[in-house]
Amino acid sequence: MSVLQTFFLGLPILLLLRRIFLPYLWQDLRFAFQVFRYVRFVERCIKNSRTVLDIFLHQVSIRPDKNFILFQDQAYTFKEVDLKSNQIAWALNKHAKVKQGDCVALFLGNEPAYIWIWIGLCKLGCSMACLNYNIRLKSFLHCFRSSGAKVLIAAPELRNAVEEVLPTLKEQNVQIFYLSRESATDGVDSLLDKVEAASDNPVPKSYRSEVNAKSTALYIYTSGTTGLPKAAIVNHGRLLMSSSLSTLAGVTSTDVVYIPLPLYHSAGMMIGVRGCIQKGACCVLRSKFSASQFWDDCRKYNVTVVQYIGEIFRYLCNTPKKDNDKNHRVRLALGNGIRPDVWKEFVHRFGNIKIFEFYAATESNAVFFNYTGKVGAMGRSSFLQKLLRPYGLVKYDVEKDEIVRDASGHCISVKTGETGLLIAKINTVAPFTGYAGDKAQTEKKKLQNVFKNGDLYFNTGDLVMTDKEGFIYFQDRVGDTFRWKGENVATTEVADIVGMADFIEEANVYGVSVPYHEGRIGMVSIKLKEGKEFDGRKLYSTIADLLPTYARPRFVRIQDEMDITGTFKQRKVALVKDGFNPLTIKDALYFLDDSKKTYKPMDIHIYNAIQQNELKL
Ligand SMILES: *[C@@H]1O[C@H](CO)[C@@H](O)[C@H](O)[C@H]1NC(C)=O
Ligand SMILES: *[C@@H]1O[C@H](CO)[C@@H](O)[C@H](O)[C@H]1NC(C)=O
Repeated sequence: MSVLQTFFLGLPILLLLRRIFLPYLWQDLRFAFQVFRYVRFVERCIKNSRTVLDIFLHQVSIRPDKNFILFQDQAYTFKEVDLKSNQIAWALNKHAKVKQGDCVALFLGNEPAYIWIWIGLCKLGCSMACLNYNIRLKSFLHCFRSSGAKVLIAAPELRNAVEEVLPTLKEQNVQIFYLSRESATDGVDSLLDKVEAASDNPVPKSYRSEVNAKSTALYIYTSGTTGLPKAAIVNHGRLLMSSSLSTLAGVTSTDVVYIPLPLYHSAGMMIGVRGCIQKGACCVLRSKFSASQFWDDCRKYNVTVVQYIGEIFRYLCNTPKKDNDKNHRVRLALGNGIRPDVWKEFVHRFGNIKIFEFYAATESNAVFFNYTGKVGAMGRSSFLQKLLRPYGLVKYDVEKDEIVRDASGHCISVKTGETGLLIAKINTVAPFTGYAGDKAQTEKKKLQNVFKNGDLYFNTGDLVMTDKEGFIYFQDRVGDTFRWKGENVATTEVADIVGMADFIEEANVYGVSVPYHEGRIGMVSIKLKEGKEFDGRKLYSTIADLLPTYARPRFVRIQDEMDITGTFKQRKVALVKDGFNPLTIKDALYFLDDSKKTYKPMDIHIYNAIQQNELKL
């Protein structure tokens, strides 16, 4: 064979080989380059002690009159937010003696104040605890306390929830303000009047002289695998890093970013708002997601980027079709949890929107992005990723709810195509800052002696699978949480509350799948106390006061005996599999009826209505 022949024969083979083995090489490299560039930027910030506040102030100096926040019919420019944040800083400094190193807790829905209060606190060198405004009583107190805050700022609309815990907060000398001009509660002060009376002069740097990359910026609450919510510590270094997502997705200063997600979660705050600060982009806040208003909002505000969780796109696809479905300027969607079927329907119906799917959790050190266009994958793991942020997929026994270890006590990697627990090596590139005031929980998320003695990994609690090409697919969550309507539900916390009903001896909470919905809906299996009867009304009133709607069990199953493991853990796997079908389950089943404020017997009509998506859950 001549050289020429070899060449012409060889070329197709080479191209073929490249297609088989490295089809994504170019995209992997380009992406890696962007990541490196971003990491360099963060390193430079840390070296020069620059924080997100400095980035914000830079935006104020270069585009003072550009809109930064749109909300209802209000618009705030960068300059206006800057001045407002000066005022809140001076007001808090004067009336609550707030100073460097303190923490202030915010109990507030999505509104512009959320952002200017936060920036004001940054100016004072303070951290902010982002309380979920759905929490009440015990959860509320627990979350507040774990942040170590001495000041609480609440929305006046949440007055009832504040008054419930007021005596306890007062005992602990907490200073409490409503974000309004007057207060109707004894012991709670008004704040807005004080803000308006305060100076808008800049807060000197000396007020935050000790802040560095390791200082806490935010506490964001996550429903951990057990018990009450945990305050994940988000430090300034982490916050610098977190806008890498918007950068990699290609958000620019001309974009208008729609944030229908709550700001007390990391997606809204650390990716949405934080990303807009990085880019000098405009964010549109909405107090609550509404499927029927979504596109009208996008048109009204000229939105170009939307933030999503999988549920949101499903709701949008479920709305009645309209002629103007494609009439908008949205070009990019940033988020996670979209299912392949929903993705296809979404772009088919609403036009050619680029979907940038990623995987990350507030406190987790594992991050994956979908940068190649693979439908269904939550991300891609290239050789570069493995080099920078090593991770593993290890065998997990779902029945026993524990990691499988071999004879020498090490974890076992699963094969390609098999589902395993995602764990990520803890190192300086991928640190794990832990939970505030909760050493035990922090330690629980760390895994030691994983592949060799002395190594250390973060347990994400997520079961995932990788395919031959290196795409990663989310499969399920392990342990004691499930997701419903975009919120994590901690089963033990719900079980504790259900167990408060006086006729219940024991409760086992889990999530079950329902058609046409992401995540799992809550179900509880209970054992009645000897000689007691089930009382649907009583159970309803017990949980309605203490649990947010997304965490309330929708179905109840009554069992004579609870199934527990040898180590006294409740078994859930079989119950999850059984679901709530009254034809196949012999035990009594009940269904939560919000309109009648009770649990009523579950029958085949309810079951069928759920199967056909005729019943709103
Ligand atoms: C949206 O764009 C249109 C046309 O460019 C403009 O007239 C309108 O003022 C914009 N709306 C907002 C809220 O920026
Ligand atoms: C991955 O990204 C591509 C390109 O942006 C997109 O078309 C695809 O839908 C994404 N996959 C998922 C599951 O979001």
